[in-house]
Amino acid sequence: MKENDPIGRFEREYARAAESEPFEGGRCALATADAQGRPSVRFVLLKGFDARGFVFYTNFDSRKARDLEDNPHAALVFHWHTTGVQVRVRGSVTRVSDEEADAYFASRDLGSRLSAWASKQSAELDDPKTLEAKVAKMKKRFEDVPAVRPPFWGGFRITPDAIEFWENRDDRLHDRWLYRRGGDGWSCVRLYP
Ligand SMILES: Cc1cc2nc3c(=O)[nH]c(=O)nc-3n(C[C@H](O)[C@H](O)[C@H](O)COP(=O)(O)O)c2cc1C
Repeated sequence: MKENDPIGRFEREYARAAESEPFEGGRCALATADAQGRPSVRFVLLKGFDARGFVFYTNFDSRKARDLEDNPHAALVFHWHTTGVQVRVRGSVTRVSDEEADAYFASRDLGSRLSAWASKQSAELDDPKTLEAKVAKMKKRFEDVPAVRPPFWGGFRITPDAIEFWENRDDRLHDRWLYRRGGDGWSCVRLYP
């Protein structure tokens, strides 16, 4: 299928995967690199996408966020086993607005909101009891007031400059479509598998 709307195509593939994947379809691997170009990869959950890009949320003091401060470029890869589709996204990264992050944070259950407050993500933890104690402290702190978004937690948006769709085919003759942003639109080429 040759067309010039990779976001529309992503939307269709995402909906197809969401119908059949046993796990949340938004699970994807996020690759970042530090200031020296050393890569690091981990899973995150995609929490939104549209023509502006792909959004995930995290702690701003985490390793990935520190990488992104130093080197605001990232890549994502999705694999949906049930549909045999892989999607790779590459682009530059910016923080989402406070309003957008506040709205998403407010939609999370209380347990997740308190954990976001309690976790110094990616820092060394001496003893799990320290974290338990911090969660208990946050429970108290937010007993009578809303657990709003911590200032050290929020979202990043990857503005894609390349999106590749890969579809599983027999005999490893997989279909690959590379979309590249150029001017104010997208161009699309096929790649050898
Ligand atoms: C399926 C899955 C989804 C995850 N989703 C997120 C996420 O959306 N945000 C996040 O900060 N960490 C998420 N994590 C944890 C990260 O993989 C990672 O351990 C953590 O963010 C710290 O990474 P860092 O030290 O490179 O910053 C997820 C882990 C798994 C296995």
